Amino acid sequence: MKKPYVILSAAMSVDGKIATHRGDSSFSDEEDWKRVHKLRSQVDAIMVGINTILRDDSKLTAKEGKSPLRVIVDSKARTPLNARVITVRPDLETIIAVTSKASKKNIDELQKKGAKILVSGDGEKVDLELLMEKLFDLGVRKLMLEGGGNLNWGMLSKGLVDELRIAISPVIVGGKEAVSLVEGEGFNRVSESVNLKLINNKKVGKCLVLTFKVLPKSERKKQ
Ligand SMILES: NC(=O)c1ccc[n+]([C@@H]2O[C@H](COP(=O)([O-])OP(=O)(O)OC[C@H]3O[C@@H](n4cnc5c(N)ncnc54)[C@H](OP(=O)(O)O)[C@@H]3O)[C@@H](O)[C@H]2O)c1
Repeated sequence: MKKPYVILSAAMSVDGKIATHRGDSSFSDEEDWKRVHKLRSQVDAIMVGINTILRDDSKLTAKEGKSPLRVIVDSKARTPLNARVITVRPDLETIIAVTSKASKKNIDELQKKGAKILVSGDGEKVDLELLMEKLFDLGVRKLMLEGGGNLNWGMLSKGLVDELRIAISPVIVGGKEAVSLVEGEGFNRVSESVNLKLINNKKVGKCLVLTFKVLPKSERKKQ
């Protein structure tokens, strides 16, 4: 399958939450943000789920160097017309990945604002495998997946993630409604899980940044 190399990037608490139950996701300090912005400038595209846009109103730009293409996974084309990913840096391309069921009115309005629409599948949710192929065809070879928890599950459970870079901030936030690094239905058994190999660990500011490669299924037994 043709797909970009996908790096899942997140900052989380020691208890694995990427936001508090109120939606506060500020786990990185200034030094860690610098690392994130550098990574953004080294990839061809950054991708997030629609809830992350609705919650954080992220611009998804890099502070220094080249800013990548921005991709929002948004089945129903609910991205607000005044979202910063649309209004800030209109010179950068923003792709909204929708399904064929998305509102035509919303699509028209987003296109008028300069967004590019990619229809990926006819189901309830965006077909992520098809989306990866379409992004590859548009020249995206390295993609940074910046959450949130539900999109992380969608990508991990389909075997579409190659690497993880996780900043662990020395805090515990708790909360059963707080979004975890990976949401979704989860695997039934540990033997079915996504297996990782730790390839680097580094202190950046107050965070510990762990880099993992995702092991292909064939290599898992050898671990
Ligand atoms: N600390 C960090 O590093 C970090 C990074 C990013 C986000 N966050 C936090 O994460 C929270 C949002 O996470 P979230 O899990 O609620 O939402 P999310 O992953 O940002 O977005 C999930 C939504 O994406 C859409 N989607 C479309 N196709 C999908 C597919 N195949 N698989 C999965 N999702 C698909 C669905 O909405 P539709 O059905 O409407 O399309 C789904 O509800 C926010 O509070 C944000 O602050 C933290």
